[in-house]
Amino acid sequence: MKILAIESSCDETAAAVVENGTRILSNVVVSQIDIFAEYGGVIPEVAARSHLEVILPVVHKALEDAGLTKYDIDVIAVTHTPGLLGSLLIGTLTARMLAILWKKPFFAVHHLKSHIYANWIGNGAERPEFPLLALVVSGGHTQIIYMQGHNQFEIIGTTRDDAVGECFDKIAKILGLPYPGGPAIDKLAEVGNAEKYSLPHPKVAGLDFSFSGLKTAVLRAIQAELEVPITTPSYELAGMLSEQQRADFAASFRATAYEILLEKLKTALDEYPEVKSIVIAGGVSASTKLREMAMMEFGEQLKVFFPERKFSGDNAAMVGAAAYYEIQEGVRETDPYVLNIAPRSKIG
Ligand code: KG4
Ligand code: ZN
Repeated sequence: MKILAIESSCDETAAAVVENGTRILSNVVVSQIDIFAEYGGVIPEVAARSHLEVILPVVHKALEDAGLTKYDIDVIAVTHTPGLLGSLLIGTLTARMLAILWKKPFFAVHHLKSHIYANWIGNGAERPEFPLLALVVSGGHTQIIYMQGHNQFEIIGTTRDDAVGECFDKIAKILGLPYPGGPAIDKLAEVGNAEKYSLPHPKVAGLDFSFSGLKTAVLRAIQAELEVPITTPSYELAGMLSEQQRADFAASFRATAYEILLEKLKTALDEYPEVKSIVIAGGVSASTKLREMAMMEFGEQLKVFFPERKFSGDNAAMVGAAAYYEIQEGVRETDPYVLNIAPRSKIG
């Protein structure tokens, strides 16, 4: 089964052709990072306009790279929730139009499902075993999801405020680093001392997370280090810090953020001892440090999975993988004539 998948939920325009859920025949991603690095963040209207400019060439290239035509495609799949409204609109309108014109079955897929299913991509690679715990860490989400089997999702922990990726992006801004903050902090942290500044772990009951306190803690620690009043605007701080201080803050923050994530995952494992694999997914899962720390914590006891790096950020290959397993589980097609987008919605 060959699925043509489309993703446009935030600032990447992507299309891919995926065979039987795991074999990638093509994977095209056009990122708007260069545009938004200038603004320091995503501007929804600009993102939607950029999607509109490139979506048809991106779809065309995905077919061309796969060496296929519309006649070879069995199914069209698209991300329909959650994400930026205007961005989702461009991808879903394109996918709906193609499904109607080419008379193909149509599947609308949840973005977080797709991030999780990025861990099934690959030829002959080992697959995660159920039951499993998925840690989804992206710019918009931080969740622990229990999966009893394919396409069964139970959210057992979620952030009460900021997502972890969002926290990386905000701290990066304070440290004078470009958008997106995650990769920039990751790089700078490599030359920093993670023990230099001790940052608090939030006390949140159960399996939920909170990251807004950590962001404020970093801000206060920087102000204390510089001995400036807490009313000093955050955009003035980066210029006052030395290169080494910035690196030390990046490393201390990064380590604390990952400790917080892994502590909760450990508590979740205690509550679900039957779990056979851990799956880490979403943009933040690209981090080598997070991968190392997760392997150190769980690697001996369990199988730990991360997506191949090109599939950890937003892409359409993961949408094709997720759609395939929906189809296998008997999920019904979506009606392409019905508008079906939602900026916010829960997985499952
Ligand atoms: O999954 P994703 O591409 O988009 C959303 O669905 O949100 O995740 C983007 C997030 C951004 O916050 C970005 O800063 C973060 O993933 N990120 C990273 C790294 N690469 C991307 N965070 C930490 N370390 C990285 N290497
Ligand atoms: Zn994403």
